[in-house]
Amino acid sequence: AGARPLAGQHVLVSAGPTREALDPVRYLTNHSSGRMGYALAAAAAHAGAHVCLVSGPTTLAVPAGVRRVDVQSAADMHAAVMAEIEAADVFIGAAAVADYRPADIATDKIKKSDGDAEIRLVRTRDIIADVARDYPRVFTLGFAAETTDMEAAARDKRARKGLTMIAGNVVGPNDAFGRDDNALFVVDAAGAQYYERDTKAALAERLIAQIAERLADKTGQ
Ligand code: PMT
Repeated sequence: AGARPLAGQHVLVSAGPTREALDPVRYLTNHSSGRMGYALAAAAAHAGAHVCLVSGPTTLAVPAGVRRVDVQSAADMHAAVMAEIEAADVFIGAAAVADYRPADIATDKIKKSDGDAEIRLVRTRDIIADVARDYPRVFTLGFAAETTDMEAAARDKRARKGLTMIAGNVVGPNDAFGRDDNALFVVDAAGAQYYERDTKAALAERLIAQIAERLADKTGQ
């Protein structure tokens, strides 16, 4: 405990969007800026942890004391997380990972034709669900980004993915994505609590303090 409650712990964080290529010049993505994940990486480093940040494309600077691994696609992010997970005690999935990617990536730029076009999408692998299944000793904090029924969806995602903790947030044009503030609905085995609207930095510090407490309970410190 004390000022550096995560001293000696290894924390792996995913952040930002993924880019799923259609051809050499086009991709599918989402509005994640990476801010929530970067704030968590910074807070974990501040708490004394060794922090690795697996990041999709963002414009953010690497937080002090954090090692960053840059990725583009969901498949890249899956591989990078799996390459780092052996050393991790905590995995925080704040990235907005694409659930689907184009079935085919064209080698050359797709030409315009007179007719309409269709894109066939196939599922990507779920990174945090794979971590929870294959590394049950790792403390997993997932996020649930929802536009409706956020609380129920957050509880459901925590159960379905087998996560230790989940933080639900409402996303939309005026919420969560890109902004400096957010509000969270945090659920773990002990119950649910609201983190009222605050800066992502303050919310991240609260989440990291909560994780440190849970780890200390487990090891009886
Ligand atoms: O980046 P910001 O602009 O600061 O915005 C923050 C945020 C809204 C992106 C962030 O707070 C957030 O909610 N991140 C998760 C976004 C998301 O993809 O949520 P989801 O409900 O689709 O996914 C649930 C969980 O599964 C997440 O922890 C996600 O990282 C994980 N996941 C999802 C799909 C996949 N293939 N692999 C995953 O690991």
